[in-house]
Amino acid sequence: MSTPKRYTVTAALIYANGPIHIGHLAGCYLPSDIYVRYLRSNGEDVLFVSGTDEHGVPIMIRGFMEKKSPQEVVDKYYAVIDKSFKDFGIEFDIYSRTSKPVHHKFSSDFFKTLHDKGYFREKESEQNYDEEAKMFLVDRFIVGTCPRCGNPRAYGDQCESCGSDLSPDELIEPRSALSGSVPVKKTTKNWFLPLDEMQPKLEKFIASHPEWKANVAGQCKSWLASGLHPRAMTRDLNWGVKVPLPNAEGKVLYVWFDAPIGYITASKEWFEQPETRNQLTYGGKPKSASWEPYWKDKDTKLVHFIGKDNIVFHCLIFPAMLMAHEGYILPDNVPANEFLNLESRKISTSRNWAIWLHEYLEEMPGKQDELRYVLTAISPETSDGDFLWTDYEARVNNELTAVFSNFVHRTMVLTHKNFEGKVPEATNYTKEDILTLEEIAKYPEKIGSLIAQYKFREGQQELMNLARLGNKYLSDNEPWKNPDKERVKTILNISLQICANLSVLCEPFLPFTTQKLRGMLNLGQMNWNNAKNTNLLAAGHSLNEPVMLFAKVDPVLLKKQIEKLDHIRKQQEEAEKQAAASNQQSSVAANPLEPQKDVTTFDDFSKMDIRIGTILSAEKMPKSDKLLKLEVDTGIDKRVVLSGIAKHYKPEDIIGQQVTILVNLAPRKMMGIESNGMILMSENDKGELSFVAPTKTNQNNGSTVK
Ligand code: 2FM
Ligand code: ZN
Repeated sequence: MSTPKRYTVTAALIYANGPIHIGHLAGCYLPSDIYVRYLRSNGEDVLFVSGTDEHGVPIMIRGFMEKKSPQEVVDKYYAVIDKSFKDFGIEFDIYSRTSKPVHHKFSSDFFKTLHDKGYFREKESEQNYDEEAKMFLVDRFIVGTCPRCGNPRAYGDQCESCGSDLSPDELIEPRSALSGSVPVKKTTKNWFLPLDEMQPKLEKFIASHPEWKANVAGQCKSWLASGLHPRAMTRDLNWGVKVPLPNAEGKVLYVWFDAPIGYITASKEWFEQPETRNQLTYGGKPKSASWEPYWKDKDTKLVHFIGKDNIVFHCLIFPAMLMAHEGYILPDNVPANEFLNLESRKISTSRNWAIWLHEYLEEMPGKQDELRYVLTAISPETSDGDFLWTDYEARVNNELTAVFSNFVHRTMVLTHKNFEGKVPEATNYTKEDILTLEEIAKYPEKIGSLIAQYKFREGQQELMNLARLGNKYLSDNEPWKNPDKERVKTILNISLQICANLSVLCEPFLPFTTQKLRGMLNLGQMNWNNAKNTNLLAAGHSLNEPVMLFAKVDPVLLKKQIEKLDHIRKQQEEAEKQAAASNQQSSVAANPLEPQKDVTTFDDFSKMDIRIGTILSAEKMPKSDKLLKLEVDTGIDKRVVLSGIAKHYKPEDIIGQQVTILVNLAPRKMMGIESNGMILMSENDKGELSFVAPTKTNQNNGSTVK
């Protein structure tokens, strides 16, 4: 788009079902914050919104696990998440919540508009229903035995023991996790957005953005290539935004319908809340007085920052909703990141394989910029990234401390020592000085254009190159050795100018460092273009006392972090071992296939006299729940046989049944009755018994079995 008038920047509304970890920060919050800080520093009109997604199944599941109501869950985690963002300097204009009445009203009206325009298709389908709890069951709320591994506690969507994806219909003996009752199928009506009918428009929209990142464009094209399908925009749940239609009792909006609308609601809320009404300026200029231009004016650039699992929703489904509503702009870009791994393993909340932001801050207090720096350096912009503690240590020690901090500190200390903390005057620039000053002046453009192209990793590398340039300039010129006081003044003046420029250019990446550095340099508010000026600090300007910006990672703290992960890894491996063992046991119990017996001889086998017989009468043995007393016609005689089949057959059902009987087994007395022979039975993997009988009717009593 041509030069935008304003920017609306959104960062994914994360589910309020748990705290946040480094993967979330690296995925979309850090990139969006860097982008917005740069735009603000550049004097742009920006609205930066985010919040928590407080509806949907993930919240209900957490409530179920924590034995809390969904409202209690979201209240708890909203506070934790909001605090983490503030602690890490993620500076949203507003961090809202989708459970607020203002959002319920706004998203419900949005749905109603689409409905009244005739956009939805009504469709009936059969869903699982819990008659006791009186609610429809999402797949996760159905439990049963895994058909693959025998785990008796598998979920309707997945078996956590063997990792198989499942559907509720595959579970053996499925039951509701809420009431334990057996789910029944019940017909229900829902409202579908006909994405199939909208496909041509969506194809055009995607094709109009050839500049999008390859990973984002690739996903969109693959969805389109397989053909879009109508998607239900309502759900049979009791937690969410109520469907604003008659006869829609017990139905709420699909969480992916209401959540992205949450960006708009949050914008509206920001403009309408009294405490922000008087902040309606940017770069000293007045901001529009309403949220509407930020979502409706074609000169607004809308950018969604998300993780890769959210691509289809932001690039196809939300744009489809906005197109259907009419009047809204569509995203100009969706610079989604790939995932971040931790120590080469997938970050996992359920396995506690993560670095939680609130824990990091307790264990490494004051080290926000260190984490911001490392996460940007390994940002998963084009492929999955990997966070390694040893890499964290190397970057903090060798880059932030040895280069950035060391350069600033040496410059400040020398100025205090030689010139009483006042900026010395530069005179007689050498050729090298001039080249250095020219080089410095290029950095705002270099870094800015990389940020504008969403290349945050490279932008930060350039920032570090400027610090390297300063460090080298100081080391090459060795002012501490130089007896020429005038020359020393010039060297320190230039070094201080580099420090001042760094204080402007590091702001998007290292906001806490910026504050410290500007404090030391006694500089007030700056904007991006100030860094083009290589004479930001006038001669005679007083500096404050130097402080160390960064220090090497404390090896004791680092060791603790590594040990903590080792401990989690070991616990996990132990749990996996136990689960595997118990699965093996349960599958052994469920499937008692005995190993083949030792070899026997034909002679031995032929000693057994096995015949076909017929049961003439059957009765339960008193005081036994296992034994039936049978009278069997063996063809040779009629005899009494006691058989342990009472749990498997009713006496009245087996009169006349043909059986296979070992007739020459030594007689045995049980409960006062002599048993003469043994009825042969087969036993299946569930321990159920069946008679072994001939498959042809010509096998009369007394027929031999060989
Ligand atoms: O993946 C998630 O955590 C979703 N709650 C993101 C929603 S982003 C937007 F649509 F609100
Ligand atoms: Zn399984």
